[in-house]
Amino acid sequence: MNTGSNTTNVEKLRVELGERSYDILLGSGLLSHGADYIKPLLQSPRVVVITDTNVAPHHLAPLMASLKNANIDATSLTLPAGEESKGFAMLQELIESLLELKIERTTTLIALGGGVIGDLVGFAAAITLRGVPFIQIPTTLLSQVDSSVGGKTGINSRFGKNLVGAFYQPRLVLGDIATLDTLPRREILSGYGEVVKYGLISDAGFFDWLVANGRAIIDGNVEARIKAVLTSCKAKAEIVAKDERESGVRALLNLGHTFGHALESETGYSDKLLHGEAVAIGSVMAFDLSQRTGHCSMDDFQKVRNHFKDIGLAVGISEIMQSDWTAKRLLEHMSRDKKVKDGKIAFVLARAIGDAFITSDISNETVNGMIEDYLTN
Ligand code: NAD
Ligand code: GLY
Repeated sequence: MNTGSNTTNVEKLRVELGERSYDILLGSGLLSHGADYIKPLLQSPRVVVITDTNVAPHHLAPLMASLKNANIDATSLTLPAGEESKGFAMLQELIESLLELKIERTTTLIALGGGVIGDLVGFAAAITLRGVPFIQIPTTLLSQVDSSVGGKTGINSRFGKNLVGAFYQPRLVLGDIATLDTLPRREILSGYGEVVKYGLISDAGFFDWLVANGRAIIDGNVEARIKAVLTSCKAKAEIVAKDERESGVRALLNLGHTFGHALESETGYSDKLLHGEAVAIGSVMAFDLSQRTGHCSMDDFQKVRNHFKDIGLAVGISEIMQSDWTAKRLLEHMSRDKKVKDGKIAFVLARAIGDAFITSDISNETVNGMIEDYLTN
C-alpha cells in the first residue's frame, strides 16, 4: 500500500461476516491515496462519490484526483449538509441522479461524509438496481467510530429517526483521521460521546484511558485519535460479527440511545442537540437509572457524569429543555422506539462501567420519576 510522506501507518481491522466480510482501514492522510485501497475492490472501474456541501470543499478534490489518476471513471454528487437530507425526498433525488448517470450493478457508490451521508448513501446502495456495492469514507468522529461500521443504513420518517432502512454492509471502510482536522469542535465533542459508549459497555480499561486522554483526543492529537477510533471500531466489529441484525448483543450499542432519541425527537433533530450530545446525556441517564434501580454504584454513575462534564458535554437537559416538555411526553417517544417489544421499553443499563446489559424490567413509574428530576433540576 502507498504510504506517502504525510500518511501514517495503516491499521487494518476485519469485520467478520462470512461472504459480507470487509476491512476497516485507518490512518492519517489516506484520502489522497484513496484509489490504492479502493481500486482492488471494484467490480468495474466506475464509482460515484456522494458527499455534502460541508465536506466537499475540504476533502472531495484529493479523493477525486486519486481515483482519476488510477484511471477510475469517477463522478461526484454533492448534497446539502444536515440531518434533513436523511429523508425520503433526498433519497429519491439521489437515486434518480444515479439512474440519470446510468449507473450499473457493478458501479460502486462511495459515501464521503458523516453519518448522514453514510446512512443515506448506504440505503440508496441497498435498493438502487436491487443493490450496488458501496464504500464508506467517514469524515466525522461519530461516523468513524460508529455509523460507518456494521451496515445499518437508512433514513428518518416523520414518525421518527432511522425508521426506514436496511442492513447492508459496505465493501470497505476507509477512515482518514486527518479529515477530522476540518471538523468543528462541537462535532468532535459530539462524536466523543459515542467513543465513551464503548468503554461504558464493555471496557472499563478503555474508559480509564479516555479519562486520561480524552482532552488530547478532542484537541487533535493524532496518536490518541487513532487509538480511540481503532479501539471503538474493534469493539463494534466484534459485536457486529456476533449479531449482525441486532437480535441480541448488538442492542448494547444502543446505550444512551433510548433517552437520547427522545431528546433528539423533542429538539427536532436540529442543531439544538447533536446525536452524540444526545447519546452522552442518554448515557448519564442510563447510569443514573442503573444506580437508582440498584444495579450499579453511585460512584460509577458519578464517574461517568463527571467525565462527560469535564470534557465539555452536557449531562442534563436544562440547557435544551422547552417549557412544554413533560416526563410523559419523553416516555411516549421512548415507547415509539423501534426496539420496543410487546409494549415494553428495552433499556441498556449497567452493573458497572464496562458491564452493560439489556433489560425490559424497568417500570414506567421509575423512569417517569427520574425524568421528572431531570426536568426540574
Ligand atoms: P453529519 O453527517 O450530519 O455530520 C456532522 C456535520 O459535520 C455536518 O454538517 C457535516 O456536513 C459536517 N462534516 C462532516 N465531515 C466533516 C469534515 N471532515 N469537516 C468539516 N465538516 C464536516 O452527522 P454525524 O454526526 O456524522 O452522524 C449523525 C448521523 O449518523 C445521524 O443521522 C445518526 O442517526 C446516524 N448514525 C447512524 C449509525 C449507524 O449505525 N448507521 C450510528 C450512529 C449514528
Ligand atoms: N449504532 C448502533 C449500531 O450500529 O448498532
